[in-house]
Amino acid sequence: MKSPCTRLSSCWCCSGPAALVWTTALTVSLYLFVAIFRFPQVPTSRTRQVLHPHKGTVGSGKVSVVAHRGGGHDAPENTIIAIREASKNGATGVELDLEFSADGVPILMHDETVDRTTNGSGPLSQMTLSELVNLDAAAKHRLSDKFAGEKIPTLEEAVEECIKLQLTIYFDVKGHPDEAAAALKLLYKKHPVLYNCSIVCSFEPKVIYRMRQSDPEVITALTHRPWSLSRLGDGASRFSSPWKHSWMTLLDLVLDWAHHHVLWKLCGISAFLIQKNFVSPEYVQYWAERGVEVVAWTVNTQVEKDYYQELLQVNYITDSLVEDCDPHY
Ligand SMILES: *[C@@H]1O[C@H](CO)[C@@H](O)[C@H](O)[C@H]1NC(C)=O
Ligand SMILES: *[C@@H]1O[C@H](CO)[C@@H](O)[C@H](O)[C@H]1NC(C)=O
Repeated sequence: MKSPCTRLSSCWCCSGPAALVWTTALTVSLYLFVAIFRFPQVPTSRTRQVLHPHKGTVGSGKVSVVAHRGGGHDAPENTIIAIREASKNGATGVELDLEFSADGVPILMHDETVDRTTNGSGPLSQMTLSELVNLDAAAKHRLSDKFAGEKIPTLEEAVEECIKLQLTIYFDVKGHPDEAAAALKLLYKKHPVLYNCSIVCSFEPKVIYRMRQSDPEVITALTHRPWSLSRLGDGASRFSSPWKHSWMTLLDLVLDWAHHHVLWKLCGISAFLIQKNFVSPEYVQYWAERGVEVVAWTVNTQVEKDYYQELLQVNYITDSLVEDCDPHY
């Protein structure tokens, strides 16, 4: 599948001299803006150290295999037991979701509510850490019996476990740009080894920009799924109104163009985490020319894993280290 960015660039220049002037002015100001406010990429040698640590037994050594939410198919997502299972099953690294309890403690959780994964109910923003650690984080997992009583970990606990097991960490930050950047900055200060073994990723450019502002040494990535504003993960439209759908599709085009032409440079990212269907050899090349590595998500079948590992040779994020499974959106 092709990324929509190529399409927008071809229709970008409208006809007529006025349009030409406007286009030129806009392009020049955009370039100036990026040139002035951008963060430089961290040195390639350290990026390689983080993205290709030559660890784990599943990958061929070149390609890193990263357990999505710690490997949500094999164990309850975003828990210490998931991290241990991922390590045991040969993952190079884990992708972990950063959230906050009501009392501001950074913890691991994907959703904004605890309902989908635990035996509790309600929004995270209204639950303190002491309430959260009383919940069973394995309650809704397919292997809930095996992992019963597993707790929601703090970010600190999870990071210490990963460092102990020498796993690379892909921090996935959904929102709270200021809080997240502050919390991660502290964490890197406390555990400087993280500079060599972790990367901060987000769908939101603002989060990454904030992170680089608070600590420019941290390696970062933007996460992207083309058409994500107008369509859900399975391709269905998010909106029943055709007007709204068309409007969001237009915004999707702009967002996609911005990711591929402006935001990556502004944030000085080292990797681009993209939904797997949009990865092709040409696509990998596009980013390689910009000193950015592609990481594909979520790759869940052996056939696909072989393709990314042997043919494309790009790192991939998977829900399971042990068997084929459906994607967890
Ligand atoms: C959830 O499970 C834990 C562990 O079994 C238990 O201590 C707690 O009371 C349960 N909480 C709710 C809200 O059911
Ligand atoms: C990170 O890696 C570099 C290069 O291998 C090394 O010189 C440095 O000491 C490492 N830093 C930490 C904190 O492990």
